[in-house]
Order: sequence, then structure tokens, then C-alpha cells
Amino acid sequence: MRDFVASHIKTVPPSGIRRFFDIAATMDDIISLGIGEPDFPTPPEIIRAGVASLNAGETHYTSNSGILELRQALAEHLERLYGVRYDPETELLITVGVSEALHVALAATLEPGDEVIVPEPCFVSSNPEVVFAGGVPVNVPTSVENDFQLLASQVEELVTARTKTLLLGYPNNPTGAVMSRERLLDIARLAEQRDLLVISDEIYDRLVYGVEHTCFAALPGMWQRTVLLGGFSKAYAMTGWRIGYAAAPAEILGAMRKVHQYTIMSAPTMAQFAALEALRSSEEAVQEMRGRYDRRRRLIVEGLNSIGLACFEPRGAFYAFPSIAVTGMDDDEFSERLLMEEKVACVPGSAFGSCGAGHVRCSYATAYDQIEEALERMARFAQRHG
Ligand SMILES: Cc1ncc(COP(=O)(O)O)c(C=O)c1O
Repeated sequence: MRDFVASHIKTVPPSGIRRFFDIAATMDDIISLGIGEPDFPTPPEIIRAGVASLNAGETHYTSNSGILELRQALAEHLERLYGVRYDPETELLITVGVSEALHVALAATLEPGDEVIVPEPCFVSSNPEVVFAGGVPVNVPTSVENDFQLLASQVEELVTARTKTLLLGYPNNPTGAVMSRERLLDIARLAEQRDLLVISDEIYDRLVYGVEHTCFAALPGMWQRTVLLGGFSKAYAMTGWRIGYAAAPAEILGAMRKVHQYTIMSAPTMAQFAALEALRSSEEAVQEMRGRYDRRRRLIVEGLNSIGLACFEPRGAFYAFPSIAVTGMDDDEFSERLLMEEKVACVPGSAFGSCGAGHVRCSYATAYDQIEEALERMARFAQRHG
């Protein structure tokens, strides 16, 4: 029989995150710092709105773009937060999470062989999605020396005649890095000079601590060359509802809508009504969760540093990304042995790109007392192997 699997799909390795969860799932008394989603339940008013929409008979497809009220509320929300203006009729698309938004953004804009610059460490789907869309990911390493921020000079070195797109993801998963406005302005200038499209995944925009999030599309001259991706999964604790959005100039958004229309039809209807309620009434809940993440963030960063696992201070998302160099282990071995010996799960940094090696991702979307206990176990482990 022929080999039916496409060769470009074979080049994509399975996610390095799954393996540890599969092992952890078979063990008791595990503390997981491996999870990339809020531990909080969805705020009750959002759940009520989703359920109410079902009871009201909203069980059909919606407009391909998503319900207009949600797009209108989103347009107001983005303008209020960042001063960016999008026409709800033509420049906003409601998607099945940022996952789908990323997929349609790449599928709608890449020609086969187009190069996409992807800073690493990055979200595990970034490189595979570029490949699925026929593009070629060109990775640029970020490092702790620059607070895991991307420098325009690094991007400039990699731009070729085939480069079409720069994929940004800040606040960053897995490092927690937030880009300063100045560094983003440098990147904006470069994007203009080299005529790049910027796809900016800002799913963690609401989860920043002591700094301001800069929306890339709001920078001078960037609106017209930016696809802004955002969502509800993280800030509103709505991962299971599967709702995100894309905002872009009408011509690009129209192309994305075409891909979305033929592959997805419309995002889940009850989840769209729930997301609408989230925008209308859940700001307090967002701030409450953000405050609690911040408390845990300070606990985990201080704790990791005090046990000798040097940890850069993350300013966004809900991840700490300590170096495990002092143990002499690589990040795979560290994660596996920590899991086996102390029953603490974290994710090897190299799962997010080769420059993540020597680090592990510890999520603090876990209860405060669990983080305290995890730190005690990690201290024992570090002492044994330091
Ligand atoms: C950077 C980043 N982008 C996108 C996603 C996917 O989010 P969604 O649930 O909206 O598909 C995640 C999830 O972990 C993420 O970390």
C-alpha cells in the first residue's frame, strides 16, 4: 500500500507536552505545574449566559463571522483597551479559539514556501501551523539576557526575499516575557521597512503584572499590516468553550473568513453568547483572577530562585521559566526525574523550541498551597541533585 501521510505533516514532531501528562495521568498525588490553562472555573455569569442561550433555542449555526452583538462588543472592547478600531461587519471574525484564528490567518496569507519568522521559545502550535499552511518557519532564539524579548536586529538578520510574516506571541508562553513598547516600536519600523505582515497572538493580553500590554496593531502604521489574535480561554477561564477572535483589515479578514467558512462554518453558538456576557460583565472576575495569579507568580519566582533554580521574572501569562542548569541535567531528564522522584509535573523547555533547553515551564495556574507544596518537593530534589 502507498504511504498516505503527507510528507510535510511527517516533518512535524508530536507535541513534547503530552508525553509527561500521559505519565502523570497514571500516578497519584501528583502536583501539576504542567498545565497551560486556568485552574479557575468559568465565572458563573458567563456559564449562565451560555446555558440561557441554549434554553432560548440558540442551537443553530450563527453568521460565519460570529454573532454581530459579540463582534460589536469586541470592537468596543478593543477600542476601549487599546484605541484600535475594527469594523464589526468586515474586520472581526469569531473563531474556535486562538488556535483556529492562527490556523486561518496563516492559511489565508501564505503562499507555498513563504517564510515566517517565529521567535522561540513559543507556543507549541506556532511552528506546526506554519508548516500546515505550506510555509517555512524560520526560528529566532530569544534569551534570558534580553528578558526573553525579541530584538528587531535579530529579526532583520533573518529576513530574506521569501519572508512574508513575523509571528509574535507576547505575553509569551512559555517564558512569561512581555515586550516593552520601545522594542515593539523597533520591530514595527522593521516590519514597515521590509514590508512584513505581523500576526500577533495576544491571547494573554489581560494577564500582565506591573507592566502594560502594548497591542501591536495600535503602534503607528501597524494596523494595516497586523492580524491581531485574541481570545477568551485565558483571561476569562474559558478554555473549554473554544472561543477566540481575529481582527484585521477587511481584505485580509475576508480571506480568513473564507477559510473559516469552509472549514468551521461558525464558532460554537452557546459559547459565543457566553463570550458576549464575558465582555459585558466579567471585568471584575478577570481582575480578581489576575490578582490571584500575581500572588502565585511572586511565590513561585521567589521560591524557585531561593532553591537555586534561577528564574527570570515573568511579567505576563501564568508561567515561570527557571533555568535548571545547576542540576547538571537536561530539561527532559529533569522533568522526568522530578515527576518520578517527587511527583511534580512541569514541561521541558525544549518542547517550546531548542533555545528553551536547560529550562522548564512551571505553570502557576494552580492553587497557592499546591505551589507551596511543589516548591518544597522541588527544593528536596534540587538539594539532592545540586
Ligand atoms: C500563546 C497561545 N496562543 C494560543 C493558544 C490557544 O488558545 P485557545 O484556547 O484560544 O485556542 C494558547 C494556549 O495555550 C497559547 O498559549
